[in-house]
Amino acid sequence: MLLDLGYQVSVHDDLSTGRREYLEGLPREGSTSQGGPIECVEGDILDVHLVNHAVPGHDGIVRLAAEACVPGSLASPRQTYEVNFVGTLNLLDTCHRVVGETRRHRQRRASKLRSSAARERTSKGAEEHR
Ligand SMILES: NC(=O)c1ccc[n+]([C@@H]2O[C@H](COP(=O)([O-])OP(=O)(O)OC[C@H]3O[C@@H](n4cnc5c(N)ncnc54)[C@H](O)[C@@H]3O)[C@@H](O)[C@H]2O)c1
Repeated sequence: MLLDLGYQVSVHDDLSTGRREYLEGLPREGSTSQGGPIECVEGDILDVHLVNHAVPGHDGIVRLAAEACVPGSLASPRQTYEVNFVGTLNLLDTCHRVVGETRRHRQRRASKLRSSAARERTSKGAEEHR
């Protein structure tokens, strides 16, 4: 659906239960047919380094990486807790940091533009005064 709307999509999955074949037929990175390209990265949502690299440059995130199986959660409650809770927290932490950095970057750029416009006005005014 996102591809049909023209979005570029990155899929991050540790392939613990997911399979690459599920994405067969979808346009891969660099292709522009059927909407936009899709990038597939194998990785664990618990890998903070990977999540930190994955988030920047994206407009939105749909977190589907999960231990979704109820019998599995009863068999491995700690693993389920880590993937579903800590994994979500990793994403939220990273989003919080990335949004903050983007905002600070924009503020610095706007402030630079304001100062250079003010300098230009001042020098123009000085020239007109002569
Ligand atoms: N299927 C539904 O009808 C449905 C409905 C409502 C909500 N949900 C929610 O959507 C989410 C996904 O459900 P689903 O049915 O697609 O489950 P699923 O098991 O089919 O898919 C989960 C995916 O997460 C991947 N994954 C598991 N652990 C990972 C990890 N540590 N790092 C990266 N990837 C990992 C698996 O490889 C798999 O591809 C769950 O939170 C579920 O509760 C599902």
